[in-house]
Amino acid sequence: MLELCNISKQWTPLHGSPKALLRDVSVAVAAGETVALLGSSGSGKSTLLRIAAGLEPADAGRVCMDGADISQLPPERRGFALMFQDFALFPHLHVQDNVAFGLVEQGVARQAAREQASAMLARFGLAAYAGSKVWQLSGGEQQRVALARALITRPRALLLDEPFSALDADLRLQLREEFKAHIAEHRMATLWVTHDEAEARAMAMRGYRLQNGDLLQIW
Ligand SMILES: Nc1ncnc2c1ncn2[C@@H]1O[C@H](COP(=O)(O)OP(=O)(O)O)[C@@H](O)[C@H]1O
Ligand SMILES: [Mg+2]
Repeated sequence: MLELCNISKQWTPLHGSPKALLRDVSVAVAAGETVALLGSSGSGKSTLLRIAAGLEPADAGRVCMDGADISQLPPERRGFALMFQDFALFPHLHVQDNVAFGLVEQGVARQAAREQASAMLARFGLAAYAGSKVWQLSGGEQQRVALARALITRPRALLLDEPFSALDADLRLQLREEFKAHIAEHRMATLWVTHDEAEARAMAMRGYRLQNGDLLQIW
C-alpha cells in the first residue's frame, strides 16, 4: 500500500505571497488499486506525484510504502515507476534498449536485460519494433514502449502524470483497457493524474480533486 500522509507544500512566486499548493493532503492506494487525481491546471497534481516519487521534497508529511516511511529515499530506491505524457523515452536508444534500461540500471547484465525486454515487447505486441528508433513509432506505440519500460522492473507503485494527453481519442480509449489489464496483473498501487474526468472514472475506483490545496474525494 502506498500512503501519502499529511503532505503539505507551499510555493512562493517570485513576485507574490506564498500559496498553499498542498494542504495536509492524505491518500492511500492499495496494491492493485488505481486512484485518480483530478484538478485544474496548476492545482498541484504533478507536484503531489513528484513528492510521491521522491523527485521533490514536501514541506511536511510522509510517504510510506507497505508501512515503511520512505520519505528520505531517493527516487531510484523507492521501487516506483513513473510515466509522463511526453513518454520520456531515450531518443538515441532503440526500442529494446529503452525497455531494458531500467534493468541495466538495477545491475542486470545487458544481455539478460535485452532478453527480458524482448519478452516484454512481445507481450505488448511490439516485437517487430525492437530495433527501431523510438521516433519512428507512433504516439500510441511510444506510450506502450514507455509502459513496457515502466513494468519491466516490477514496480510496487505506478505513478502516471496525464499519460494519454498527447494521444488522440480513439487511442486513449484503447490504451485505457490495455493499461487496466497490466495494472491489475502486476498488482501495482497506481496513482493516475489526469484532467479528464471520463478517463479517471474509467480507470479508478476512487477519484479525488485537488482544489485550493485541499484533496476532496469525489467518488
Ligand atoms: N518550482 C516551481 N517553479 C515554478 N512554479 C512552480 C514550482 N513549484 C510549483 N509551481 C507552481 O505550482 C502550481 C502547481 O503546479 P503543478 O503541480 O504542476 O500543477 P498541475 O500538475 O495540477 O497542473 C503551478 O501554478 C506552478 O506554477
Ligand atoms: Mg501537471
